[in-house]
Amino acid sequence: MSNIEYLPLFPHLVTRTDTNPEFLEFRDKFIDYAYNLRTNCSGITRSNKNGWHSDVKIKNDDDFQDCMGFLKKYIGKAVSTLFKSGTKVTVESCWLNINGQNSMNLSHTHPGCNLSGCLWIKRTRKSGCLKAHNPNEFNHFSLFEAYSEEIKNQFNCDLSFIFKPIEGHMVIFPSDLRHSVLENDDPYDRVSLAFNLDVRPPPYNDKNSDQ
Ligand SMILES: [Fe+2]
Repeated sequence: MSNIEYLPLFPHLVTRTDTNPEFLEFRDKFIDYAYNLRTNCSGITRSNKNGWHSDVKIKNDDDFQDCMGFLKKYIGKAVSTLFKSGTKVTVESCWLNINGQNSMNLSHTHPGCNLSGCLWIKRTRKSGCLKAHNPNEFNHFSLFEAYSEEIKNQFNCDLSFIFKPIEGHMVIFPSDLRHSVLENDDPYDRVSLAFNLDVRPPPYNDKNSDQ
């Protein structure tokens, strides 16, 4: 038995939540809303290349409140496992993406918020994975080249991490984590919802301080 231990210091904590089977009740509602919205709105350009990106204020749309309730429920479940009680987490913005064939999202971060996330709504086999880019890609390049496969797999210490999209799965990650969406190589649309969260810890309490 080895007497060497490994300490993963300062990790980026990412949650992955399976919202199924309830997601199946909402899948068509998300999809119908997205395509109806695209009919009326040309969309905006952010990280998307070729794909359609909705306005970021859909959280206030009356027709979207059913889906918002579902989204907030599962965001709440995920963040409740991360934060102490009294932490306030608010959906600052959310938007829908429809990436047709040859669409992608270029590498980007989400400045001005704390956590960001994605819910996969519709995908096919080659409709584009989410790729997280290691912020130490440059500084630790030689280390990443040298790590054994066992260590890489155990601690996810590599140049990037690929999330395979699964319908109804939701990931939440720190907003400064650079990411991109790989090109959709299928002749079918990929539909996803993205969101930004504001995190406010509970007020500082001197009685709870160790100092
Ligand atoms: Fe993003």
